[in-house]
Amino acid sequence: MNEIIKLEGVSKVFKDFWGKPKVVAVKDLSFSVKEGEIFGLLGPNGSGKSTTLKLILGLLYPTRGRISILGRLPGDNLAKRFIGYLPEEDYLYSYLNAREILNFYGKIFNLPPRVRKERIDMLIRLLGIKGYEVRPAGEYSKGMARRIGLAQALINDPKLLILDEPTNGMDPIGSKEVKDLLLDLKKKGKTILISSHLLADIESICDRIVILYQGKLIASGEVDSLLLPYKGESHSLERFFLDVVNRERGKEKKKEKREIGSPEEKKPQGGAEKKDADVDKELLQKLLHRDES
Ligand SMILES: Nc1ncnc2c1ncn2[C@@H]1O[C@H](COP(=O)(O)OP(=O)(O)O)[C@@H](O)[C@H]1O
Ligand SMILES: [Mg+2]
Repeated sequence: MNEIIKLEGVSKVFKDFWGKPKVVAVKDLSFSVKEGEIFGLLGPNGSGKSTTLKLILGLLYPTRGRISILGRLPGDNLAKRFIGYLPEEDYLYSYLNAREILNFYGKIFNLPPRVRKERIDMLIRLLGIKGYEVRPAGEYSKGMARRIGLAQALINDPKLLILDEPTNGMDPIGSKEVKDLLLDLKKKGKTILISSHLLADIESICDRIVILYQGKLIASGEVDSLLLPYKGESHSLERFFLDVVNRERGKEKKKEKREIGSPEEKKPQGGAEKKDADVDKELLQKLLHRDES
């Protein structure tokens, strides 16, 4: 199968005003997305998902590494015609209604009026926007705004869809509808790269996943084979995630001990640092909490 997206040793360091490194948002990341698959980019908030998607789209430049998208460099004008993108935040013009917003994006892609009208009608039906299409976007709920964002991402009938947390803020019914829609789009031959901070949310529709933690890839592969050792357990993906994070932490601690020599020097003072078990519980809560934004 063709590789539609490929990242090789990609890092992104955000610098402060003085040009000093501030945050390493993505560290030495390599993975590829194949044609026709649904690929999930998972990880808790702040793990580098949105940064990775923006690097792939050419909205940010990598500090190191190489990226190709549809056989071209990120940001390439020709490739853009075949890409649909749903950003993490909804940037809808609050005084325009759904129909006007979609018409605006249709014009950007130079769609002739008749095609535009047909496609907008189809998307309004497909995404359950009917009845809301004449209300200004400023009045939409988060879930409805996500639906319109998705319709906007689909207006050019893209080959490749890049969706940053598409189900964020949706109720379980809306989220299920979106997942069914994505499966339908996959059947039509689309390639989909999708991110979520809720591990189990999109797991069921992904062919393959990458899990990020603090900017690093900590696991990747087919969902089924990654979760094989956890078969039959509830919250298996979260358990798998915590096991991998703990293994990572173990490795880091060993490294620290080797580098520092005496483990005593690194001991937290006066209980200021949380114990691993507490952090795990907190993390698990976050990963399971469906309404978190
Ligand atoms: N423009 C930016 N400037 C500085 N730091 C940033 C910027 N964008 C993201 N970050 C930092 O990079 C890390 C990864 O962020 P992000 O990619 O948004 O994670 P996620 O989408 O997984 O929540 C976070 O620590 C975040 O604070
Ligand atoms: Mg994000």
